[in-house]
Order: sequence, then C-alpha cells, then structure tokens
Amino acid sequence: MVQVILPEIGTWETWRTKARGLLLAAIPPEEVFWSFGTAAPTLFAEEEYESGSGGAFAVPKSFLTLAKTVVWHADPERFAQLYTLLWRLRQTPGLMADRGDAALARLWSMEKSVRRDMHKMRAFLRFREVDHGVRDRRRFSAWFEPSHHILEPNAAFFARRFGDMDWLIATPTLSARFENGEISFEPGQAKPGLPEDRTEELWTTYYKNIFNPARLKVKAMAAEMPKKYWKNLPEAAAIPELIASAQQRVVEMQETAPTKPPLRADRILSCLPKRNAPVTGTPATIPQLSLALRDCQRCPLHCAATQAVPGEGPSNADVMIVGEQPGDREDLEGRPFVGPAGQLLDRIAREAGLDRNNAFVTNAVKHFKFRPRGKRRIHQHPNASEVQSCKWWLDLERELVRPKLILAMGGTAAGAVTGEAKNVMARRGQFEVAADGTPVLVTVHPSYLLRVPDAAARRDGEGNFRADLAKATAFLRQTCG
Ligand code: URA
Repeated sequence: MVQVILPEIGTWETWRTKARGLLLAAIPPEEVFWSFGTAAPTLFAEEEYESGSGGAFAVPKSFLTLAKTVVWHADPERFAQLYTLLWRLRQTPGLMADRGDAALARLWSMEKSVRRDMHKMRAFLRFREVDHGVRDRRRFSAWFEPSHHILEPNAAFFARRFGDMDWLIATPTLSARFENGEISFEPGQAKPGLPEDRTEELWTTYYKNIFNPARLKVKAMAAEMPKKYWKNLPEAAAIPELIASAQQRVVEMQETAPTKPPLRADRILSCLPKRNAPVTGTPATIPQLSLALRDCQRCPLHCAATQAVPGEGPSNADVMIVGEQPGDREDLEGRPFVGPAGQLLDRIAREAGLDRNNAFVTNAVKHFKFRPRGKRRIHQHPNASEVQSCKWWLDLERELVRPKLILAMGGTAAGAVTGEAKNVMARRGQFEVAADGTPVLVTVHPSYLLRVPDAAARRDGEGNFRADLAKATAFLRQTCG
C-alpha cells in the first residue's frame, strides 16, 4: 500500500505530480491511500515507488479541467476518485465523453459545487478596514466560511481585484495574506474580531434602495444568496424587514405610479388610424401604387411596422401570388417573401416549374403585425378589420396587373381574394373564381409548412404544395401558352 500525503498549499500541483508517478509505476487505485494536510498516522508508512515502464500517457484536456477544480472539494475521497478516473482513462480513452458513467458524473457535480463556492466567495466576501491611515497602503481583513478548500485557487482573484491594498482573508482552515503585492498563506483561525466599517451603513442604504419589492422572489433570492452567508453580510440584516414590507411597498408604488402615459404610448396614440382615409388620387400604375402605399394609415398596423411592403414583379404578370402579410425580414427589407417562407416558396415553385420572377408577388396586408417579446417580434395574424382596410390596395394591384391566375396562399389570402372564409385545407388544390371572374387557385401558406414539427409530415406537406404549384404552372401553360 502506498500513502500519499498532499499539502494544504500547492495541493493541485502535488496531486498531479504524485498521480503521474503512481500511474507510471502502474500502481492501481486500490493500492493508494491519499491524505491531505497534516496526515493522521495510518498503518502505512509513506512509501517510495519505482517508476515503471508505463510510458508517456496523454491526459485529455477535459480531465485536467475537472481535476484542477475537484482537488479543492471538501470530500476526503476526491483524490482517490480522481486517480481512479485517471487509471480508467488509460484503458478507456473516450471515457470523458461518457455521459452515462456514474463516477464521472459525480466528479463533474463536485466540480460544479466547487465553482459555485468560488463564485459565492467572490460575491459575498466583505472586507473591513483595519488600522485606518496608519500606513501607506490601507489594510483590510475579511472572514469567510467556504464549503470547500477554495481559498488558495481564489486568492489570485482577490489579489487582482484588490491589488492596491493589503488584506487578510481568514477562513477556519486557511488564511491568505496579501502584502505589498505578495500572497502568502497561513493556518486557518477562529473568526477574528473585525472592526465596524464606516462604509457599511452606506452600503446597506444603497442595498435597501436598489431592492425592488415588486420583483421579490424569496425562493430565488435564497438560492442566489444562501442563508449561511448572511451572518457575514452587513446588508443581510435589512433583508427580513425588506421581505416583510414588500407587499405594502408594492401597493404604495402602484398608488403613486405616474398617470401620464409613457412616451411610447404617446407615439401610438398620436398615430391613431385615419380609417379608410382616401388616398388623394388613385394610383394609376404599380410604381405609383408602391409610392402611395408608403403613407398608408388605413389601419393601426402602420404605427409599429417599419414600412409598408408593396407587391413586386412584372406589372403584366400572368400570375399573382398572394400571401398573408410581410414577416420580420420583409418588414425590414421592404420586399415581399424574402425571409424563410419566401425561400421555401422559391424552392418549391422552381421545382414545380413556376418562375417567381414572372409572377407578381404580394400580400393581403401590407404592414407587419407583431407582438414584441424581448428583442424578438412575434408574428400575429391580422384581424378581419385590418384585412378589410388593406383590401383597397390588393384590389388596386389586381386591377392594375390583371393576372390570368391568382395563387392564394393561406386562409387570409384566400379570404381577401375570394371573400370566402372557409377552411383552406378543404379548398386547397382547387380552382375557384373571384368576383371579377379571375380564376383563383387556393393552397397552403409556406409558413405553415415551416411550422410542421414532424419531418415526415413536412415532406408530405411540401409534396402537396408542390403539386398545387404544378397545377398553377399547367394552367398558365394552357391559358397563356
Ligand atoms: N409571409 C407572407 O405572407 N408574406 C411575406 O411576404 C412573408 C411571409
């Protein structure tokens, strides 16, 4: 049996050197007894071992990442567990990637626990000034009770952060001293009597002021700032009172809330729709229509959208393709069907022999309707009144282009073109006739296909869409030659 005693300082480097030597000497984990700090007497004397012919062994980087942190865990078995893993890695080089390995999973969970403890120490350690102004460099002391042996790996962080002062961080097992730019370690100690700090009252007042009672989530707060740290945090004394009075403060905040609408609301109110406001002079060409559309305020959608998106394509196109409304990309670029739905439409149309460049592509509604969610804009279907307001433009486009066929994609387009609100699935692939006699082929909207979650169902859906577009191609060949 080999006994290895690891020092409290330089634990990681020593473990690494010892583990490498043991591995090269081919000493299996069950023959090694690891101890830490001042070793208790054991049955085994510390033994020398011979380097064997194990040869060089490349250790995966992920093992080093793991081991470098786990050595600071409080579990006395950590060194043995790490050496066992290292031993197994020799036989199974891919072991670090095995998510089902229980021993490896336990070590990763220990790694996480050490990292969390280090993070908490950085967040919750509070220095207090000692010997005010007696020396050139100000001196501070702090007391902390970590869950793991994290003072050594964390000391460099505090040296960087508080490099312009001298300090002592005391813990029950080890203390770190930083003086004139040098870190040194000393044995642990009992909690020292720390002086009152002049800045603590200020800090507590600041904490009380930034505490938002309307956002209070006690469970989340306790998880983020566990109670075991409270006793050393000056601001923690204020927490019970802040929690107890939170509800009352929320009521007070509501009662004193400003009654003036925020600026954003002002903007929306100031652009209330001029419902069905007549356009001065009806545009007589597609370019004129596109220009006039820029000023459209026929419904409230123009308030939030970036711009109106006019139809585009030859003014004498044989086929007019009608979608629902511009999406996020279309709204930004000012062109119809340039986003993901447009790309799908282009691909399937090509496969069905329908050239988009020969079609007039437009939408039933010309402004993007959305609901903001964080930084994203989530598509919303236009309502009947918005479709009705925008129908003025669609009818004008139809009158100017006079297509031989209209391909209506999705319920909104089919409704706007035919006036018939029946389910698209029951109508798809069939020719209908608009009030002015134009043949209308109804099909699904490509966005619908993009949302089908199941790959096989999506393939089927695309196949049906392709068949519908092929019908349109055949119709156009027959009618227009
Ligand atoms: N969906 C539509 O209906 N139209 C577009 O222009 C883009 C996506």
